[in-house]
Amino acid sequence: MLRGKNIIIGICGGIAAYKTPLLVRLLKKRGANVRVALTEGGSRFVSELALATVSEEPVYRSIFPPTHTEGTDFTGHISLGEWADALIIAPATANTLAKLGAGLCDDMLTACFITLRPGKPVLIFPAMDGQMFLSPSVQRNIKTLATQGCRLISPESGELASGQSGLGRMPEPESILGYLEEELFSTTQRSPLYDKSVVVTAGPTREKIDGVRFISNYSSGKMGFAIARAAAKRGARVTLITGPVHLETPFGVERLDVESAAEMHSAARRFFNSSNIFVGAAAVSDYRPLAPYEGKMKKDEQEIVVTLIKNPDILAEFSLQKAPGQLAIGFALETETGLDNARKKLLEKKLDLIAFNFFDRKTSGFEVDTNILTLVGSDGVTTELPQLTKDDAAGKLLDAIEILCRSNGNNTQKK
Ligand SMILES: Cc1cc2nc3c(=O)[nH]c(=O)nc-3n(C[C@H](O)[C@H](O)[C@H](O)COP(=O)(O)O)c2cc1C
Repeated sequence: MLRGKNIIIGICGGIAAYKTPLLVRLLKKRGANVRVALTEGGSRFVSELALATVSEEPVYRSIFPPTHTEGTDFTGHISLGEWADALIIAPATANTLAKLGAGLCDDMLTACFITLRPGKPVLIFPAMDGQMFLSPSVQRNIKTLATQGCRLISPESGELASGQSGLGRMPEPESILGYLEEELFSTTQRSPLYDKSVVVTAGPTREKIDGVRFISNYSSGKMGFAIARAAAKRGARVTLITGPVHLETPFGVERLDVESAAEMHSAARRFFNSSNIFVGAAAVSDYRPLAPYEGKMKKDEQEIVVTLIKNPDILAEFSLQKAPGQLAIGFALETETGLDNARKKLLEKKLDLIAFNFFDRKTSGFEVDTNILTLVGSDGVTTELPQLTKDDAAGKLLDAIEILCRSNGNNTQKK
């Protein structure tokens, strides 16, 4: 896929720059033509000679060329961007993110970012200390670039150059290559989810007993967030309605925070008509206290009785009134009754697909980072997936949803 493709690697002044000659080499081995745009900061961390040798091209630094050398391209600051089929910026420093967001153009990297042809993929890999990454300025610049259509890949967690451990690491070169292939592939072959409105509910809900206590569950929201992230990557317009969780909003996803099932219900209803696909991954509390106590209940009584009443079933409500072409996807977390109960839910709620997962809190279900899903379609077709990371499981679920979109004649439509 990469054979003959023209790829620019922009390298900034972060410690992770030392990994980039390997990235250049991997791309060259795949048959890509690689040119490197190295910032002044970047040149402090990786040698220009190493990069020139592995790319077999001069390294691009300043936009001001020497005037005394024959054959010099005086407008290299424009032609480099025009040449490229894709731009990777790895590592992207806080400084360069700010420059790119503001449209500054004072070196070859920032110039080629601006002169890149429309529609060419830009993959940006911010890498820095975790606190730096989470700072409001860096997050603001990241959002700006994401809304411009750049793909920003969140840094990974792990050992950092500072000796600390946490968020901030640049992904390994092999993984960067994977992102590039995915991006080039997705621009040539669009997902049926492209430009579809996808609503995902995630996380737990909290049902007030009194002003300081609530009924809830162990849901971490990780599965729903992974689905939202994967759908956004495939070009969907994603709205994520989430209960209280401790998770970062995925790039390109619109997030609505709610607390109770009633709040989630009213937020979700706003999208019932306009969404093409509704994925109910939230662990919505089935019941809520009938009459939450105002203020804090006193502990004078030996025994108290809290009457619970049923909450609305948000997904079932959507599913039972959906228009032809709209898809309703559910989850069934079961402890004992298992797959049969999931099938029953699918039929009762008239879902298009249900993802059944067994609850063991070690490899599958709430809180953990992996899941073991069994997908059951409305036609009864059952697909057992192995233990996967929640991101990979989300990918498989979306593959199944794409098949449903295709068999719908790709006409998942608004009502
Ligand atoms: C030892 C050292 C390591 C650094 N690592 C990073 C880093 O990982 N990420 C980052 O954003 N900035 C890092 N910086 C700061 C940048 O090098 C600095 O902001 C520089 O101006 C970036 O220039 P550039 O964006 O033009 O490459 C580091 C600085 C030093 C001295």
